[in-house]
Amino acid sequence: MPDSDPRTIYLADYTPFTHVVEQVELTFRLAPATTRVLSKITFAPNPESDGGTFFLHGEALKLISARIDGAAVEVRPVEGGLTCDVPSGRFVWEAEVEISPESNTALEGLYMSNGMYCTQCEAEGFRKITYYPDRPDVMAPFKVRIEGDLPVLLSNGNPVAQGEGWAEWVDPWPKPAYLFALVAGELVNHLDSFTTASGKQVELNIWVRPGDKDKCAFGMDALKRSMAWDEQVYGREYDLDIFNIVAVDDFNMGAMENKGLNIFNSSAVLASPETATDANFERIEGIIAHEYFHNWTGNRITCRDWFQLCLKEGLTVFRDQQFTGDMRSHPVKRISDVLELRARQFREDNGPLAHPVRPESFVEINNFYTATVYEKGAEVIGMLKTLVGDTGYKAALDLYFERHDGDAATIEDWLKVFEDATGRDLSQFKRWYSQAGTPRVGVEEALSDGTYTLTLTQATPATPGQEVAEPLVIPVAVGLLSPNGDEVVPTQVLELTETRQEFTFEGLGAKPVLSILRNFSAPVILERDSPNAERAFLLAHDTDPFNRWEAGRALAKDVLVRMITEDAAPAPDYLSALNTVARDETLDPAFRALALGLPSQDDLAQTLFEARRTPDPLAIRRSVRALSRAIAEHSGETLSDLYDDMIVPGPYSPDAEAAGQRALRGAALGYLTLVDDGTRARAQFETADNMTEQLGALAALLNIDAAESELARFRAQWQGDRLVMDKWFGLQASMAPPDQAAERAQCLTEDSDFDWKNPNRFRAVIGGLAMNAAGFHAPTGANYRLVGDWLIRLDPVNPQTTARMTTAFQTWRRYDADRQGMIREVLEKIAATEGLSRDTTEMVGRILA
Ligand code: PHE
Ligand code: ZN
Repeated sequence: MPDSDPRTIYLADYTPFTHVVEQVELTFRLAPATTRVLSKITFAPNPESDGGTFFLHGEALKLISARIDGAAVEVRPVEGGLTCDVPSGRFVWEAEVEISPESNTALEGLYMSNGMYCTQCEAEGFRKITYYPDRPDVMAPFKVRIEGDLPVLLSNGNPVAQGEGWAEWVDPWPKPAYLFALVAGELVNHLDSFTTASGKQVELNIWVRPGDKDKCAFGMDALKRSMAWDEQVYGREYDLDIFNIVAVDDFNMGAMENKGLNIFNSSAVLASPETATDANFERIEGIIAHEYFHNWTGNRITCRDWFQLCLKEGLTVFRDQQFTGDMRSHPVKRISDVLELRARQFREDNGPLAHPVRPESFVEINNFYTATVYEKGAEVIGMLKTLVGDTGYKAALDLYFERHDGDAATIEDWLKVFEDATGRDLSQFKRWYSQAGTPRVGVEEALSDGTYTLTLTQATPATPGQEVAEPLVIPVAVGLLSPNGDEVVPTQVLELTETRQEFTFEGLGAKPVLSILRNFSAPVILERDSPNAERAFLLAHDTDPFNRWEAGRALAKDVLVRMITEDAAPAPDYLSALNTVARDETLDPAFRALALGLPSQDDLAQTLFEARRTPDPLAIRRSVRALSRAIAEHSGETLSDLYDDMIVPGPYSPDAEAAGQRALRGAALGYLTLVDDGTRARAQFETADNMTEQLGALAALLNIDAAESELARFRAQWQGDRLVMDKWFGLQASMAPPDQAAERAQCLTEDSDFDWKNPNRFRAVIGGLAMNAAGFHAPTGANYRLVGDWLIRLDPVNPQTTARMTTAFQTWRRYDADRQGMIREVLEKIAATEGLSRDTTEMVGRILA
């Protein structure tokens, strides 16, 4: 599709802008329907440009006046902006435009949320604020004056002057327009400060609506820990006098790294023990760190163009993952990240939406804020680090900051820094950036005369627009264990660079047990049928915690696939191995909680599909439930002991240790509820003093379809809290039994609190339903149509969120002809909708192609 759409933009077509911007001055006269934006921009010819027509982006702007060097100028409107004749040297452009924040429901540009003004400019939203070269390689210092009858008026940089109804801000650091931000409203602040390594005082604020002030403390603490961590680990200090975070209820994404003024979806910053779960706290800590880390990887060094998005996102995700590992537990973080990678990125990479980490064309850039760019982008950096080692990585990063500070850089710049710092040739490694698809790695073992030979193969399946794939550089971390459990060869990294390659290990008496792809050293799918006895051995003995977990996972998958396809009974070996892990007190509770989790129904559907079997979502669900019940029955005593022992004493604290104990206790409760009629869950719901336990109990009861009274009480208790009510909506949509899902979803969308224009609420219900594997795929197709009709309704209001949620259908070709037919009909109906946004058009086109 991207190739046939005339609006397609290509990486190969990059040319620099005709001019450089030396200075930007903006004045905002705020009014809900008639905000005036006055701009004064100094342009000078760009020595790096071959010339061309002067062009400014602009969308949905009412032009009041335009002048060049003080004289009125005739502008010519063109698609997406305007052109005009300009002097040959330096000149000053002045314009006045009018915009209407209150009617901006797309939440891009300047808009209103609950009476406050806020902005979202990444990727191309600044053009909805004023005429400007809205591209990331145009960087300039900004001066902003805000006029408005509101107590809090914020923008980027440092505050320089203010009075009744106005404020002025100066951002000395040249930045692209996508990092511009403005906030105005009746807000209160949670205030703190941070002293940088070089002794500079920085004022820190989290700005929220008055009722939310008690939900900022954790976010503030996470911010201070992020600032200290970036100094210690990357040597990066903060560079302004003030750092502001604002919580906004209506926001398309998690959060945004605007220079000195991060804007957050309130779900990504507000937390109190009563309203947020342990998972929420951990996510908030990670997102605060992520946005803060962007100050160096994204803002000080930005992207030359949007094809380079992974330059800032892959690296910043990698950094926030390191941070969370340091704050909490590296193995637990790695396992959670791989779960997420497989659930979202592998799903994308093995379907119609597959694209390289650095795409080469797009119609709408907002459609490329994907798991591939973010999560696979981070994996690629992790592999680089594995290949060059910690010292090489540090030298490369130091050089990156030194060489490119103030630049709009490319992936070529990034890799060159590694080559120069380490002397390594990365030309083959670079394919990770241009080749889509998840590589399959095959494994063969042989032992003769004490020499153990490991033969590894690689192949990457075809993806849209890419028929043949070249071999990649794949770091494969392996260790060898002796049959008694001792490690005979500690972890070493094999570099698989060819389609087929042999690695030998000398001096081995007996055949060792192979522990391969330790710590998940590359984002690949291992194709290896190892015997279950070997998996059970690794689950019990591997020294690599990731692979220990992975062995249990592989066992569970094998058991489930046999249950689904052969009607097998749950394997007793698996049940007892799992019981042993659950009881093992030498293991971290958080790790044990993860080990107790079963593969998701979506994961199983993909596994069956790859084995050329048509997945039946209802059969998958039945087997997962049967296995859960078997675990509950087999390990009843263990689970009940865990439930009684893992009570965390004292008042609630969101720290990793306490959260891990609650996670293990919660996992136990989930199983026990299947066999105790909900007795424990009901009691826990009664007495819970924190959201983790309250919601855990509610979910456990929903899972046995016995939560009616708790749902009503939960609602009565939390009616006034939007974030908690999102959970109430989301849980019901994602957990409804298959035969009730359509009715439940319909009912939720008719609820008076279903504020569908709020992205969080829309995602809770419509996204929740799409995640309800068996429910979404109920054989009538009712839920396909329900989701489709809601996407058609949301599209004119909020194209970005609509386009994102079309991914509910990306796996459609896995299923049987009936289901495929019904989904095709829905997708074609969406595609045929008159006036469908560019965003949704592109996504549906790619999914159908
Ligand atoms: N750049 C943001 C981040 O990853 C994500 C984002 C993209 C937010 C586009 C809003 C719009 O941190
Ligand atoms: Zn980011």
